[in-house]
Parts: sequence; C-alpha cells; structure tokens
Amino acid sequence: MSTTRTPTLLTDTDMEVMRILHRAFRRDGGRLEQAAERYGTQEAAAHEALLIGWHGMSWSLHHHHTVEDTHIWPVIRDKVAGTPEAEILDAMEQEHSRIDPAIERIERAFADADAGVDAVAESIEAFLGLLRGHLEHEERDAFPLIRRFITKGEWDALNKAAVKELSLSEIAALGPWVLDGATPDEVRTVLSELPPPVRALHRYWWNPRYRRTRRWD
Ligand SMILES: [Fe+2]
Repeated sequence: MSTTRTPTLLTDTDMEVMRILHRAFRRDGGRLEQAAERYGTQEAAAHEALLIGWHGMSWSLHHHHTVEDTHIWPVIRDKVAGTPEAEILDAMEQEHSRIDPAIERIERAFADADAGVDAVAESIEAFLGLLRGHLEHEERDAFPLIRRFITKGEWDALNKAAVKELSLSEIAALGPWVLDGATPDEVRTVLSELPPPVRALHRYWWNPRYRRTRRWD
C-alpha cells in the first residue's frame, strides 16, 4: 500500500529573507529619492558615492528579479497552469520587464554630464513608482502563491541553486547590501543560508569593507 505524504509548506521564517530583501530595496529607494533632490549640487566625490550606492541597488534588484523569473515563478507556474493564479505570475514578469528599461534610463541620465536635474529627477521618479508598485503587488498577490504552492523542499532547493549561481565576489557585494540596517536576528537568518566559511568572510572582510565605502551621499 502506498502512503501519500503531505508536503511541508513554507513558514514565516522561510519567507523572512524575501521580506528582508524587499525592505533593502525600499531602504535604497529612499536614498535614491534623496539623491534626486541633491542632484547637480554635489561635488565629484559625492557623485561617485551616488553611483556606488545606485549600482549596488540596481544590480541587486536585477539579480533578485532574475532569481524570481528563473527559479521561483516556474515552480509555481507548473502547478497553476490554466488557472487565474497564472495571471499573477504573468503580471510579475511584465512588471520586471518594465523595471529594466527604467533602470537603464537612470544609468543614461547619470552618465550624461549634460543631463539636466529635471531629467534625472524624472527618471528616478518613474523608476521608484514602478519599483514600489511592484514590491507591493508582489507581497500582496505573489507571496501568498509562494506559500501555497512551493513546498519547503522545493524552496530550500531553489534557494541553494540560486546561491550557487553567484560568484564569490557577487556574494561579497550582495550580503552586506542586504544586511545594511538589519537587526542581529535578521543578520543570523540571512547568514544561515550561507556556508560557515562564507559567513566568516562576510563578518570579517566584506561587511567592514562595505561599511568603510562611501555610498549614496
Ligand atoms: Fe521579490
């Protein structure tokens, strides 16, 4: 006789890294907004700091969306084909694809010495509107799908696969960026996803270096 085992579903703790990541995007969204207000008045070193902050944010966001599009949504898509839930996944992918050109528009504005303050401010406002709307939409509609349709085993496997795709220098950049402003409990939660030697690198090398670097202002 065969027995059917009920798959273990995700808990709040499993979703914790997602929440910490989304908060990091909102944190840097606020910093970007402040940068837009100062833009054009800052000296060269402050402009350099703005670019360092912005690239940390834009790369982390691009990476996060890639993980969702290649590892997370496909697991759910297989289980919701032909149902209204599939439309939520379509919306997530469409929103990601609208955010990429908005990122490029800011890149171009920052790189163009002749770009007016208004052009920079407009590109930032457009990007932040898309980003904030998307984070909210994802938390409201897609987080419940993750919890309903991805089992604990699938979640652990996809997270492991996503971390494996990162180079050591990418983890070195991503770890301190995510944990900027995190509580000690959150730091423990995020670091527990990494092997012990990598945790030590974060603590004693990458994070101190991140903190020494001037970024955003
Ligand atoms: Fe997300």
